[in-house]
Amino acid sequence: MGELGLGPKLRAALEGVPASRPRSSARGPAAQPVYKLSANENPYPPLPGVIERAVAGAQGINRYPDLWCGELTRELAARFDVPEAHIATGTGSVGVTQQLLQITAQPGDEVLYAWRSFEAYPVLTHIVGASPVEVPLAAGEVHDLDAMAAAITDRTRLIFVCNPNNPTGTIVRRAELERFLDRVPSDVLVVLDEAYIEFVADTDEDFPDGIEVYRDRPNVCVLRTFSKAYGLAGMRVGFAVAHEPVAAALRKTAVPFGVTQFAQDAAVASLRAEAGMRERVAALTAERERVSAALTEQGWAPEPSHANFVWLRTGGRTDDFAALCEQEGILVRAFSGEGARISLGEPAANDRFLYVAERFRKESQGL
Ligand SMILES: Cc1ncc(COP(=O)(O)O)c(C=O)c1O
Repeated sequence: MGELGLGPKLRAALEGVPASRPRSSARGPAAQPVYKLSANENPYPPLPGVIERAVAGAQGINRYPDLWCGELTRELAARFDVPEAHIATGTGSVGVTQQLLQITAQPGDEVLYAWRSFEAYPVLTHIVGASPVEVPLAAGEVHDLDAMAAAITDRTRLIFVCNPNNPTGTIVRRAELERFLDRVPSDVLVVLDEAYIEFVADTDEDFPDGIEVYRDRPNVCVLRTFSKAYGLAGMRVGFAVAHEPVAAALRKTAVPFGVTQFAQDAAVASLRAEAGMRERVAALTAERERVSAALTEQGWAPEPSHANFVWLRTGGRTDDFAALCEQEGILVRAFSGEGARISLGEPAANDRFLYVAERFRKESQGL
């Protein structure tokens, strides 16, 4: 209690939510570049035509953006061959995730997901006052869908399946996903969070494309983003594809005018530059294979990643590992006591990371 008295009463549900604060950036040795490999961003600049289109719209920023994201919605509907009414856009897919919680869950309800998975799931679940139910990943860092199905109760309202999973990069395959969905009651919404889908190899025929899966399942919603493969993380635009009742509820809960006209225009231009996106994804996945092979050679045992990052189970040495990376000018995403997620960057960044990874292994083994 301060001099000014008690202050306003805030919702008790917020007490368990970590307060984010700005982080100082890594400082490497003098003259060393600092590589940010901590947020699964795309190291490439926006696709051709994107900046031109967004800048051309700058003359109009005295006006609100298109409330309904009309052009973007039409483009998405055509691109994925779904009705426009099945699309809901939002301020990044994390914005849509927040809306998914708002439309399904309230205090007393349960939200189910694998753990470890995307950090926003527990945070956003707490914010709406619902209860997170976290089902540990199985051996090989994969979703334990049998255990997840067994964890469904009368109170379960929402289930996230993050595919590929952040931070492990592992995937759920088609047959096991279908089997799981068959076990989920039809009044429970299942969200297939496909933020990294573009990085899954085209040759992986067992990988389920959520947009095919959702078509005959009214309780499935697909979540996609322009932040990763399309390289628009700073624009904050993502979208859901779901049957009309769910998509309409998402549109009701959208922050009015939340997706700026810049973001809408940039997303449309990005969709039209699909070939360029595919080239960049090919370069990043080639780097992923190179880095994974080099890590294996160094004696690490990373699970194959299907996303734009790799995951190292550094366990109790995670903080030391992250500190060494930072000292060498590389920011990674460390989960203390568990492991570290390292995004694939440009080749020079990846080389630097490999150098640090090797040094860490040798130092830990006292070589
Ligand atoms: C699994 C997953 N879903 C959603 C997001 C959110 O991305 P954005 O809000 O930038 O669309 C991320 C970002 O890291 C993610 O890893």
